[in-house]
Amino acid sequence: MTDGSFTPSAPPELRKFVAPEVVVGVGSRRLAGRYAKNFGAVRALLVTDPGVIAAGWAGEVGRSLDEASVPYALFSGISPNPRVGEVTAGAEHYRMQDCDVIVAVGGGSAIDCAKGIGIVSSNRRHILELEGVDNVAEPMPPLICVPTTGGTSADVSQFAIITDLELRTKVAIISKSVVPDVSLVDPETLTTMDPYLTACTGMDALVHAVEAFVSNAHSPLTDVHALEAIRLIHPNLAGCLRDPADVALRSAVMLGSLEAGLAFSNASLGAVHAMAHSLGGYLDLPHGECNTMLLRHVTAFNFESAAERYERIGQAMALDLRGMRTSDKQRAVLGAIEALRAEVGVTATLASRGVRGGDIPDLAEQALHDACLVTNPRQADRRDLEVIYGEAL
Ligand SMILES: [Fe+2]
Repeated sequence: MTDGSFTPSAPPELRKFVAPEVVVGVGSRRLAGRYAKNFGAVRALLVTDPGVIAAGWAGEVGRSLDEASVPYALFSGISPNPRVGEVTAGAEHYRMQDCDVIVAVGGGSAIDCAKGIGIVSSNRRHILELEGVDNVAEPMPPLICVPTTGGTSADVSQFAIITDLELRTKVAIISKSVVPDVSLVDPETLTTMDPYLTACTGMDALVHAVEAFVSNAHSPLTDVHALEAIRLIHPNLAGCLRDPADVALRSAVMLGSLEAGLAFSNASLGAVHAMAHSLGGYLDLPHGECNTMLLRHVTAFNFESAAERYERIGQAMALDLRGMRTSDKQRAVLGAIEALRAEVGVTATLASRGVRGGDIPDLAEQALHDACLVTNPRQADRRDLEVIYGEAL
């Protein structure tokens, strides 16, 4: 395979592809009120966080609800990694305010919390009882999302990630029931992100695309989105740091994030996310930063098990790998990952973030049970995970 063409060697396995209705483009955020009205909303719950309120985006969406004559209640008690108690409090607020539609404005934290509020409200169960794959029996109320980071893709995904403070880990809820109904993808909302958040969320999106492309559950439908996401994010993310107000660059990264989201929502993820969930829950670190610290090391671990797939990832990063031996291709792909990480300034190591060698067995134990590990292209046992964490220290 040298020209990007692909000849299937066997009939494809059964695969499904789930996606919400998506409106992409500058100004799409102002459609929130109209969509809420179309859902017949009597009263919406506007779920957001203090940073998004300060940036002005929650207020704009609130005005669109006003203009559509949809009354709303506000819930903004959300941490950067949304917590079990915050979902419970939000669901109580939803019930007390007699809401029937949810509008989420924010990054993955606000949207994941909104998903949690939705499924807790419709299923009348504690959020932790809904953990795992396909454990949500009742669909949630209509959920309209306005994502304000170019990374998590919670606005299109079948995933909700909630932090369990007691166990110091993250809980993954994976279900068609947490796919939002509508995502209003407006690149202008990215312009208020600070540089480090821009870098971390953009790298998270890149990791989504990489892990979806090498996932054991990938399909032709997810592959096209994963590769296009890499082609959009890789050359444009650093430019967003240099010129934060450039809406064309932001649009490229946001579209890349959307495509990565469509890919991973349907192909699932891999060891980077399994290990990042464990790490982020243990130390309450930014999700994209955790992924970035681990990506190189997991790629080195996986490479030979999916060499042809990683080669195509390298080509999507504009690497010319023709005529190279596999070991040289691996070196080139790892080099491109490291170069991007340095260029966008996400250079922390686990040790610099407070991880000690003695923490590694606990981290590996949690990661071993994460649903994302199942689709990693190379099977990883406890010892493998410990070694990878050790290399990332
Ligand atoms: Fe992620």
